[in-house]
Amino acid sequence: MSLRLGDKAPNFKATTTAGEIDFYEFLGDGWGILFSHPADYTPVCTTELGRTAAFQEEFAKRNTKVLAVSVDPLDKHKGWINDINETQNVTVGFPIIADEDRTVAELYDMIHPNASATATVRSLFIIAPDKTVKLMITYPASTGRNFVEVVRVLDSLQLTANYSVSTPADWKDGEDVIVSTALSNEAAKEKFPKGVRIVKPYLRYTPQPNK
Ligand code: BEZ
Repeated sequence: MSLRLGDKAPNFKATTTAGEIDFYEFLGDGWGILFSHPADYTPVCTTELGRTAAFQEEFAKRNTKVLAVSVDPLDKHKGWINDINETQNVTVGFPIIADEDRTVAELYDMIHPNASATATVRSLFIIAPDKTVKLMITYPASTGRNFVEVVRVLDSLQLTANYSVSTPADWKDGEDVIVSTALSNEAAKEKFPKGVRIVKPYLRYTPQPNK
């Protein structure tokens, strides 16, 4: 059965460009991003892994480990990393799984037979420290993902995990957030000393609490 939000992310052992890993041990107590790409030495994938490398510091600031996966073999990944570094002006510092036997692809339902019988599509999962799946997105091979959006969702998820807030449509880091409807106005005002703006009883904003 395929994964759903809130499910426990399946653990696995894998061969990667950084050696053998156990997924849970790799993640430790932090957040994780696991994402698949269709194939090495392809143009869109090269830009995506380049963007991921460019965001390595941002992910680290958010206590988030990143792990890429495709069904290509290890030596192919290693050769391709040189091309990514050269063409995208980065240093890939995150592991890429060589999922030749499709263990990870099958656990995370990354092969969509109507798109490709053999290659993974562009699936991306954000996994919380309790190892539950918090975000799942799937893109076709022809569309490179927006990694600014991935970081934005990560920020939103971490705010929700740490405060009783959610984030409105098109929210960006630093903008007001939405107070949980589970809090009374009194409790909200106490919890958010920067103030609570009440638009409707169910729509209340407060300045981003961690700024
Ligand atoms: C790409 O990364 O450009 C790509 C990979 C597989 C299929 C189509 C495009």
